Order: sequence, then structure tokens, then C-alpha cells
Amino acid sequence: MLSRRQFLLAVPSAAVAAGSLHSFRMWAAEEPNVYLPGEDGMIVRSERFLDLEMPPEFFNSWITPAPHFFVRNHMHEPSTVGVESWRLSIGGEVERPLTLSLKDLERMPSHTVTNTLECAGNGRAFHQPHVPGIQWQKGAVGNARFSGPRLRDVLQHAGVKPTGKHVMLHGLDEVPGKVPPFIRSIPVDKALDGDTLVATKMNATALSKHHGFPARALVPGWIGAASCKWLSEIKVLDKEFDGNFMKPGYRMPNHPLKLGESLNVEDSHVLTALNVKSVISSPLEGATVKAKVQQVRGAAWAGEANIDKVEISTDGGTSWQEANLGREQAKYAWRLWSYVWKVPQSGDYTIMSRATDSQGRVQPATVEWNPSGYLYNAIDQAKVNVRL
Ligand code: MTE
Repeated sequence: MLSRRQFLLAVPSAAVAAGSLHSFRMWAAEEPNVYLPGEDGMIVRSERFLDLEMPPEFFNSWITPAPHFFVRNHMHEPSTVGVESWRLSIGGEVERPLTLSLKDLERMPSHTVTNTLECAGNGRAFHQPHVPGIQWQKGAVGNARFSGPRLRDVLQHAGVKPTGKHVMLHGLDEVPGKVPPFIRSIPVDKALDGDTLVATKMNATALSKHHGFPARALVPGWIGAASCKWLSEIKVLDKEFDGNFMKPGYRMPNHPLKLGESLNVEDSHVLTALNVKSVISSPLEGATVKAKVQQVRGAAWAGEANIDKVEISTDGGTSWQEANLGREQAKYAWRLWSYVWKVPQSGDYTIMSRATDSQGRVQPATVEWNPSGYLYNAIDQAKVNVRL
């Protein structure tokens, strides 16, 4: 299937320049082989570098199907990656630098991890005051089964030297102009964790192009940015990588900032594991509902921790009742939850959800403002009107 970018590359630019995006969409809608961002019901947050958000109604499935899994790209996806020609190099602080093909990876023992991948910027749109960046609401998150060899096994083939402290991951993104490439690193302990993968599959099928074909890192429980897509190079370093996407990118202040204050990089740290968080997926914000018995639903996750409970309030936070947690569960995976709300009378209500995790963390009423709008996890709410 041609991506829009492939199409744009294939068609003379003058022809594209002569037409508008609208006429491109009209044309593409008739073409079965052209992928149109948003055609699967996803919210298009950016077309230039594809960013797709999952609408709240898709929180109804424990496993998110790939077409409904959010997409976050900092730059252009690689236009072509040949299965035969693709190679992954492993070097740096290792005894035996090596190069692996996709077939080599497929010959290694495969491990599956069901992981909730969430972008650090999910919920940015809810920060007050407004912060610039992609205005994600609830759906820059999804839960999928990722499979492939353990990164630990790949690294053990190369033999990590005692000087190896961090593992750098480099993707094949097409870097526009002078933009720094997407390179990040993770500490060697997390890289050697038995659940950190070089994933080649998502939900038992080969990764799609949007999600990092032919191989991506899967760093479970951590912010999505740790899981580098379209992997081409793994390099063991004697210190943390400090390129743009580690510094100043993806950092949190060590101390709360005043509203509007900028980040002091020297007084900040790299983001790693996700927060405890729950979201309401039904009823939706602004809905008018008519039945006396309402199913309130949603999902909750906590990065490397487990969800202990989700509580619901239907009176604006005065009283809380426990929701039922869904049967399906796995380390690093979200829990779906539901709550039967017997509505006393017609009126306007604010439904709230609050998760608590196995580390004792409780979703806060408000979050500390930070200039990039990272890790938003305030108690979720949906204002609804009930007409009985
Ligand atoms: N890897 C590369 N090479 N380039 C990217 O832009 N985006 C990161 C991460 N890996 C990114 C990347 C971010 S910010 C997130 S949240 C996740 O990929 C999103 O993964 P997905 O697009 O498969 O949902």
C-alpha cells in the first residue's frame, strides 16, 4: 500500500503543488492502494509527520488492533525498508560487534510481552496553561502483544563489556533538513531486563510500517519514546546518550516549576516509567444519556506497576465507589474497568475515575505543570447530562 508520503514521492511535485490537500484526498479516496490518515477512525493530529490518536471508544478492547493503535512520529517514516537488505548493527562497548538480518532475529527465541505503550505527551491538551506540541487528549496510548527476541539475548551475542552502562537505540527515520536524528538510550539494567525486546511482531503479525517495521525496541512500562522504531543500530555506551531526544527532550524538572517557567536542563531528569492513570471511555464527555442504569467504562495502567483499584465518583469527587476490574491482565498491560451507575435523577453530572497502583501511587486531582506537557495523569472526568 502506498503511504501518502510515498505517493507524494512518486508523483511529480508540480502536480501535487497544483492541487490542494482536499483534492488529493478526493483523488485518494477512489484509490484502493493509497492509505489515507484517519480512514480507520483515528484522529489525525499531524499529517506532515504522521501522528494519529485513538478515539476514546476504542478503549473497549483489551488488545488494541494495529489499525487503532496510536502513531507517534517525530519525522518521516523511512520510505523503503527492504526485508532482505535491512540490517541491525550492534557495537560500542561490546566484545564482538555484529550485524544481524531479520532472518537472524527470527531464528532467536521469541518472547511476548503485552504492554501498554503511552506517549509521554498523552493528555498534553489538558494542561493549563496551554503548552505547545501535539495536542494529544486521551488516546496516545494502546495495549498490544509485542514479540521478538529479548534485547538481552541480542546483547549477549555481542558480549557487553563492564564499561557498558547505557544502550543507545537508533531508528531509520528520514530526517528532514537539520533536525537531529531520533536516537535515545536506556540504562543497561533495563536493556538486560528479560521483558525488553527487539520486537518484530505486534499482535502476532509483522510490525506495520507505522509501528516500526521490521524491528523496534519494546521497553515495557516506560514512555513510548524509549521504544525506538525502525531500529538500525544498537550501540552500548559508557554513559547516557545526550542528544536532542534525551536532552532537552523528554525530561522532567526535578522540582515543581512556576506556571510558564522554562526547564532548567541541569536541574531535570530523563523520563523513564509511566505514571498511574485511568481514563473514562464511556459515557463520553458532553454526552446526553437516557437510561437509569449506566455502564461507566474505561482503562487504567501504571507502567511497571500493577493497577490495584479504580474508583468512580458521580458526585464531583465527594464520594467514591470501586469499579470492577476486567479479567484480562498482564504485567505492563492496562486493565479495563467498568462500573454500574444507577442514576438517581435527571441532571448534569461529573463522572470521575481515580486509579491506585501496587506502588501505592494514586492518580492526583491536578498535575504539576511542566513546559512540555509530559506525563499528564490527573483524575479523569466526563461531564454528562442525564435525561430520564
Ligand atoms: N522511534 C523512531 N525511530 N522515531 C520516532 O519518531 N517515536 C517515539 C517511539 N519510537 C519514534 C520512535 C514515540 S515519541 C512514541 S510515543 C512511540 O514510538 C510511539 O509508537 P507507535 O507509533 O508505534 O505508537
